[in-house]
Amino acid sequence: MKRFHVTTFGCQMNEHDSERMKGMLTSLGYSESEQRDEADLILFNTCSIRENADNKFISHLGEAKRLKAENPERIVGVGGCWAQSVKDEVFRRFPFVDVAFGPGQIHRLAEFLNSDQLSAQGYFEFEDFAGHLPDHRARQFQGWLQISQGCNCVCSYCIVPSTRGREQSRDPGELLLEAERLAADGVREITLLGQNVNSYGRDLPKETRIRFSDLLGMVDAVDGIDRVRYTSPHPKDMREEVIEAHATLPSLCEHIHLPLQSGSSPILKKMRRTYTRERYMDRVEMIREKVPDCAITTDIIVGFPGETETDFAQTLEVVEDVGYDSAFTFVYSPRRGTLAADMDDQIAHPVKVERMERLIEAVQRRAKERAQRFVGRSMEVLVEGPSRNDPTRIRGRTRHNKAVNFEGTAEAGQMVEVEISAATSQTLTGTERLLSGIGA
Ligand code: SAH
Ligand code: SF4
Ligand code: F3S
Repeated sequence: MKRFHVTTFGCQMNEHDSERMKGMLTSLGYSESEQRDEADLILFNTCSIRENADNKFISHLGEAKRLKAENPERIVGVGGCWAQSVKDEVFRRFPFVDVAFGPGQIHRLAEFLNSDQLSAQGYFEFEDFAGHLPDHRARQFQGWLQISQGCNCVCSYCIVPSTRGREQSRDPGELLLEAERLAADGVREITLLGQNVNSYGRDLPKETRIRFSDLLGMVDAVDGIDRVRYTSPHPKDMREEVIEAHATLPSLCEHIHLPLQSGSSPILKKMRRTYTRERYMDRVEMIREKVPDCAITTDIIVGFPGETETDFAQTLEVVEDVGYDSAFTFVYSPRRGTLAADMDDQIAHPVKVERMERLIEAVQRRAKERAQRFVGRSMEVLVEGPSRNDPTRIRGRTRHNKAVNFEGTAEAGQMVEVEISAATSQTLTGTERLLSGIGA
């Protein structure tokens, strides 16, 4: 039996694409190999969001080259956003690559493997949704549901619109069937995926068009699904009904990831985010009013071209005001083919690094302060398995998406109540309540 090995870089979208690649390969009779050097088919699912994402993967490619030289029968495949973004040069720069494909062309891998193709092949067109592939989930009880692909936004720093194409929403009926299938297969937590989930539906034909909040209601109603999450919404499309849904739908978790990018309206304008600081803060206020305990997390970029000390101070102010439960912070990285990469007021690296340090300090301090509200409470935790640092303890997640390390006896996939005794900026600590097990 032939064996495959997949290395995944990048976001949840790529993780899900890799699960589908694995499902597809399994159905073709391949089995998964733990070790890359024992695989007949070596695959990389790549990301190109920042320069260090590119570099990380290119160092892995070196090993693939060596393994290919050792055994020329091996097949080396490169999929994902990096492959898409260098499609014209991939085979020239990396002649040992046998097959390359963009995020929308996963299914073509099967076509390639089934053919008697001897020369290298590339598949990069954008076409319909590449789903409809069996998936091979990392955890039985957690599943992704890709509700749309591509992105119609034009954020001036971002490579994604060019790697994933125009936005296309999937048919709601099809999504409902898939959610039901996941539930029947043991999934208790579903995460709806899209680059801009809350613009879902706008491109659907009138007869089937529904709004994102309606879709949330549909998935919430599926039997067996205890938790619904989604990522990422865009602040410009964050409507009141979606925020309200967090208060009314029992399975929709108390967590909203609301990417800020910058707290300065002039920088947001240059980023082409199409909202201002005021509009963003207005959304935050609405969340606080309707779902007071909701966790709010975000993405922030420092050192975007032209960012002054005053602009950066505004980002810090928003961080102080909102008090994020956590934030992904990124140093701006110029990406090929994007508008911002050609702006002539690029920020010097040491300035970016210094701002990043101040940003992280503020984010972590506020996150730690916010997390204290959980201490002394009993929280519902979906168990993920043994704790990473201490295998005698158990790890799981609250509905607020906080990681919890606790003492207890629960198994992966169970839902338990945990008494929280301490909180840092990143994790909660606690003890499992005996005789708990809500529905588990
Ligand atoms: N579609 C999602 C995710 C985009 S990528 C969204 O809009 O929220 C995830 C994050 O990477 C972005 O939110 C942004 O903060 C960051 N990012 C994207 N391009 C970047 C770049 N060129 N440099 C630094 N960070 C970037
Ligand atoms: Fe990129 Fe903006 Fe689209 Fe997100 S919304 S994927 S940041 S272009
Ligand atoms: Fe995701 Fe990276 Fe592509 S973040 S959408 S895999 S560029």
